[in-house]
Amino acid sequence: MAEVTVLGAGTMGSGIAQVFAQAGDTVHLIEVSLAQLTRGIAVIETNLARSVEKGRLTANESEVIMGRIVGSSDLEQAKYSELVVEAIHESLIAKTEAFRALDSMCPPETILASNTSSISITTLGTATGRADRVIGMHFFNPVLVMKLVEVVRGLATSDETHAHVMDWARRLGKEPVAVGDSPGFVANRVLLPMINEAVFALYEGVADAGEIDTVMRLGMNHPMGPLELADFIGLDVCLSIMSVLYDGFGDPKYRPCPLLKQMVAAGRLGRKSGQGFYRYPA
Ligand code: 3HC
Repeated sequence: MAEVTVLGAGTMGSGIAQVFAQAGDTVHLIEVSLAQLTRGIAVIETNLARSVEKGRLTANESEVIMGRIVGSSDLEQAKYSELVVEAIHESLIAKTEAFRALDSMCPPETILASNTSSISITTLGTATGRADRVIGMHFFNPVLVMKLVEVVRGLATSDETHAHVMDWARRLGKEPVAVGDSPGFVANRVLLPMINEAVFALYEGVADAGEIDTVMRLGMNHPMGPLELADFIGLDVCLSIMSVLYDGFGDPKYRPCPLLKQMVAAGRLGRKSGQGFYRYPA
């Protein structure tokens, strides 16, 4: 069992911290916003309490797991970790800064992983002096439920780092899939154009949101329709991934739908803001 750091206690970061702690690792959960840290820890406590209620964990096991998670707002705590998983907001500038800071304080053997949904791992690697130990560990929401981890290899990621992270993801009970460092990797390169197309269908008045989602749920057996899923992911995140695909490939087929841009500009970001393609009463 190892010591790991998860940077960012949002939806993804708190889920990632929980899966590591459940696998027996000690987790430093680092978040600059105290309010967000408190929220992230409360979500983990709620998830564990639900597992106890459902008989999947005993109260004692739940306490032991919670005891392995140490919340902090001090990045310095990361310096004791064998692995750091960065899960802060999707901004190249913020992630580059975080990688630079982590590189300066962690011992040379620490692996620096990013949960980025679309930013280049090679680029993040160049912000450090250890590009061979920089890798993508892309989890899916809800982290506790979704089996997949895309393990993204940058141009300089070493075979050793790659093999170690693939094994670690398996130890978490996940199914890792090795993918290359290409815009959107595999999951978001396939998923986001489908979501964007659904937004175009709505924009052009082909059908309303409920009808588009019903088509994909009942016709394709998707657990959520694409617009419902976009609200779940966050429309700002969807727009950011489409922009990465558009810039990265320079292909007009990835142009974000004007309606998606408009909704983000209006602050209709999906579930997290209370309104997206659907309304979410508090
Ligand atoms: N946290 C923890 N557990 C959760 C959860 C959450 N947020 N949401 C649901 N669950 C658990 C429930 O507790 C339940 O567990 P149980 O079967 O042991 O009781 C199980 O999941 C099923 O939940 P529900 O019965 O409440 O609801 P559904 O059957 O409708 O499932 C869902 C909910 C799993 C979210 C399902 O709708 C789904 O799979 N949706 C698609 C999710 C998806 O595509 N995610 C990927 C998004 S893309 C991404 O993350 C990449 C990023 O880069 C953009």
